[in-house]
Amino acid sequence: MAMALAMASCSSATSFLLLSFSLSLSLLSFTSAATSTDTISAQHSLTGKQTITSGNGTFVLGFFTPPGSGGNYYIGIWYGKISVLNPVWVANRVTPVTDPTTSELKISGDGKLVLLNQFKSIIWSTNVTTFSFYNSTIVAVILDTGNLQLRDESNSSLIFWQSFDHPTDTWLPGAKIGFNKLTSTAQRLTSWKNKIDPSPGLLTLQSDPTGATSQYFLLWNSSKEYWTSGIWDGDIFTSVPEMRWRGVFNFAFINNTEETYFTYATNNPNLKIRFVIDSESGQMLSWMWMENTQSWMLFWAMPRFSCSVYASCGPFGSCSDMRSPSCSCVRGYSVRSQNEWDLGDRSAGCERVTPLQCEQNANNTEKDGFFEMPNIKLPDNPNTLATAGSREGCELACLNNCSCSAYSYNGSGCFVWHGGLLNLKEQYNQSDAGTLYLRLAASELKSSERNKERVVSLVIIGAVVLAIFFSGVPAILIVVKKRENKRIIDKAKAMQSRLVSFTYSELQQATRKFSTKLGGGGFGSVFKGLFPGSIDIAVKKLEGLYQGEKQFRAEVSTLGAIQHVNLIRLLGFCSQGTKKLLVYEFMPSGSLADQLFHSNSNVLDWKTRYQIAIGTARGLAYLHEQCRDNIIHCDIKPENILLDDALVPKVADFGLAKLVGRNFSKVLTTIRGSRGYIAPEWISGMPITTKVDVYSYGMMLFEIISGKRNLMYKGESSFEFFPLVATNKLVIGDVKSLLDQRLEGKANSEEFEIACKLACWCIQDDESSRPKMSQIVQALEGNLDVVIPPVPRSLQVLNKS
Ligand SMILES: *[C@@H]1O[C@H](CO)[C@@H](O)[C@H](O)[C@H]1NC(C)=O
Ligand SMILES: *[C@@H]1O[C@H](CO)[C@@H](O)[C@H](O)[C@H]1NC(C)=O
Ligand SMILES: *[C@@H]1O[C@H](CO)[C@@H](O)[C@H](O)[C@H]1NC(C)=O
Ligand SMILES: *[C@@H]1O[C@H](CO)[C@@H](O)[C@H](O)[C@H]1NC(C)=O
Ligand SMILES: *[C@@H]1O[C@H](CO)[C@@H](O)[C@H](O)[C@H]1NC(C)=O
Ligand SMILES: *[C@@H]1O[C@H](CO)[C@@H](O)[C@H](O)[C@H]1NC(C)=O
Ligand SMILES: *[C@@H]1O[C@H](CO)[C@@H](O)[C@H](O)[C@H]1NC(C)=O
Ligand SMILES: *[C@@H]1O[C@H](CO)[C@@H](O)[C@H](O)[C@H]1NC(C)=O
Ligand SMILES: *[C@@H]1O[C@H](CO)[C@@H](O)[C@H](O)[C@H]1NC(C)=O
Ligand SMILES: *[C@@H]1O[C@H](CO)[C@@H](O)[C@H](O)[C@H]1NC(C)=O
Repeated sequence: MAMALAMASCSSATSFLLLSFSLSLSLLSFTSAATSTDTISAQHSLTGKQTITSGNGTFVLGFFTPPGSGGNYYIGIWYGKISVLNPVWVANRVTPVTDPTTSELKISGDGKLVLLNQFKSIIWSTNVTTFSFYNSTIVAVILDTGNLQLRDESNSSLIFWQSFDHPTDTWLPGAKIGFNKLTSTAQRLTSWKNKIDPSPGLLTLQSDPTGATSQYFLLWNSSKEYWTSGIWDGDIFTSVPEMRWRGVFNFAFINNTEETYFTYATNNPNLKIRFVIDSESGQMLSWMWMENTQSWMLFWAMPRFSCSVYASCGPFGSCSDMRSPSCSCVRGYSVRSQNEWDLGDRSAGCERVTPLQCEQNANNTEKDGFFEMPNIKLPDNPNTLATAGSREGCELACLNNCSCSAYSYNGSGCFVWHGGLLNLKEQYNQSDAGTLYLRLAASELKSSERNKERVVSLVIIGAVVLAIFFSGVPAILIVVKKRENKRIIDKAKAMQSRLVSFTYSELQQATRKFSTKLGGGGFGSVFKGLFPGSIDIAVKKLEGLYQGEKQFRAEVSTLGAIQHVNLIRLLGFCSQGTKKLLVYEFMPSGSLADQLFHSNSNVLDWKTRYQIAIGTARGLAYLHEQCRDNIIHCDIKPENILLDDALVPKVADFGLAKLVGRNFSKVLTTIRGSRGYIAPEWISGMPITTKVDVYSYGMMLFEIISGKRNLMYKGESSFEFFPLVATNKLVIGDVKSLLDQRLEGKANSEEFEIACKLACWCIQDDESSRPKMSQIVQALEGNLDVVIPPVPRSLQVLNKS
């Protein structure tokens, strides 16, 4: 993996691309006969190197063999025009042929598509009854969508069978995943067994088998659900808010009397996109073909971490998302089948190295012992709940039965496991975590040096003397502003407290019936307004807020009390029934997004950008660490950093997450365009801390550096994810090229390097690896040395091969 990274980093292509997991299958024939057709008919069967090709040449069907499979040949469909060969469908998944030259794919006398092996026996069949019109015949046609249809030759809408109804591990645009109510058959995806064996593996993607809900599940061995999409809300699946992704896709969930299914299309028919259930990671992965680099780019993976996949490391295998590769055997065990393990199939797991004393063939005379594994996700379903009043009693209960492999004692209950331990996860800090005592032969317990976790951290050099950054000049500014506010208040309304309570009609008047919209975000829309005396204001109409009057006022007055030069000032509010509005000072220079991304003539120079980065960090540090309630912003992005006329940044919309409270998750799903800034732990539903803001800040810092959106959809089939480019260049020490080209290299190189490294630290997957906001301020001010960060794991994962 390291090599892949380095190689990719060295490529001179402007857009860094991932070398995807591709089989590089050796095909019998890639340059097929010139007389290529798209049809198999009674007269034209397929054998040996022959292929059929769809009209536009997009897809090809023929025999292929995965390298290393020992000469197993399969009928498959793969992409026709691209240099990398990925089968998207396989016919005879479990019944390979060994000699394709004497095997034959043909239309049988009774109108089925059948595969005959060298002994002329049918090893695969479409197995449907067909009929043709007078003087017509049955044919099989490969379409440009990748769908193979068995149909009447003269009437193309008379379809008897199609490969889209029988997907293997790949879901192409236009194909359905769902359930046919008439035939009681489901379209589901099933992983390959391993990299080279297309026979069905343990993992499937399918719709709710009861048909009652619109959810999709990833299942292990058809029984254990390890990921769900959430309910379809008409627009997205609730657990997949990133489905709004930049308008590349059109998704549809259909439920009618015949079938219920989910399907998607791409807005650009030239895009090559596939969703694959990956046999190795167990994740659902989405790949997009990049013409300019001739490789597949991974752009989505669910579940986000491969340790979320049930039993991903097999029996006695232990998973850690902090490690690469993530699977290892527990102490005293070794990989059972190295060959399968290397091919990505870890279902066989690990086996005991030294036999237990109680096992008959064992020569050791010492008593078995236990290895303590703290902070682990306990295996599912303990075989026995033994009665024992103490840990020692529990241990004894396990020792007394030779088939007992581990126990755990939680203070009152004794759990004992027999046979394989499944779904172990390390460093698992959740409520079902515990300490597992693993039974081992005495000799295994003697050498007990523990693996040291690699700890990466920011290194502080020297004592850091931090000026209290919101004192001094800024304080004066605040006083001035207070005066200004007072004027507003005097003119607008008699003042009751520092924060003014406006009526709805007053704000309606000030905004001229909300006629000038400044922008919109997850919490509502913002309108420009004017108070008598030419005082500009911004009025935010909150949406999705159902708080009572009293609570709202309490929260707002807390927010109103927060004052910092880098935080936008709340001037007043309105709360009339369901109408909740907030009144802010108006920022004449708009948002950082306006300044960075809108190609006007004034390009922000580096010095200004750096000051904006520091100011924003200060504002956030204040919210996180200095103010009473430790406010998490939850929606840091360039749109929410406003600039005053001196381009001093002010963080807007802080505290709104708190204000919206319980409804926040609902509001969140409606946030458009913020997805790229949201930390992985949040998306995966874990409790959030101030570190989610640090993550978003890091993403934003990358955009400040490059002057571009991190994720650029460049039309056609070209994408670029800047943080990935940047982190990889950082590792090899080549950062200069990352600077916004419009700056023509004009940047303080020291500051620039600090910013690059910090941004990468901020987007580490593990929250604890991310710096605190105050550390970021220190680092940007040059008071904290920043070491080279590791490439975040979630980005590394994209390089998996
Ligand atoms: C196939 O070619 C036709 C005509 O050139 C074009 O309109 C169509 O979009 C192409 N379809 C695909 C899937 O590429
Ligand atoms: C074909 O269908 C018949 C009847 O539905 C079934 O018994 C048989 O197992 C099927 N054969 C294959 C190869 O699927
Ligand atoms: C049936 O097919 C034969 C041979 O292709 C052709 O000569 C004949 O005209 C066709 N008959 C009809 C009714 O289409
Ligand atoms: C083609 O098949 C469809 C579906 O069975 C049928 O509705 C249609 O009438 C047929 N068209 C012709 C020209 O036979
Ligand atoms: C599909 O429609 C049927 C009948 O209207 C309904 O009972 C069922 O709950 C629906 N399923 C989903 C997933 O919406
Ligand atoms: C999967 O489930 C089947 C029965 O439900 C069971 O026989 C089989 O052992 C399971 N496979 C694994 C790898 O546990
Ligand atoms: C056990 O000991 C006996 C005698 O010392 C020896 O012959 C045998 O190979 C040993 N077995 C194992 C499994 O070590
Ligand atoms: C050990 O435990 C297994 C599983 O609970 C049980 O079937 C077996 O009878 C036990 N053996 C002894 C000797 O208690
Ligand atoms: C220990 O496990 C038992 C059995 O599941 C449970 O009833 C009890 O609440 C647990 N005790 C603690 C402290 O978690
Ligand atoms: C889990 O929690 C413990 C104690 O609360 C802590 O020491 C440890 O660092 C945490 N581990 C992770 C991976 O967060």
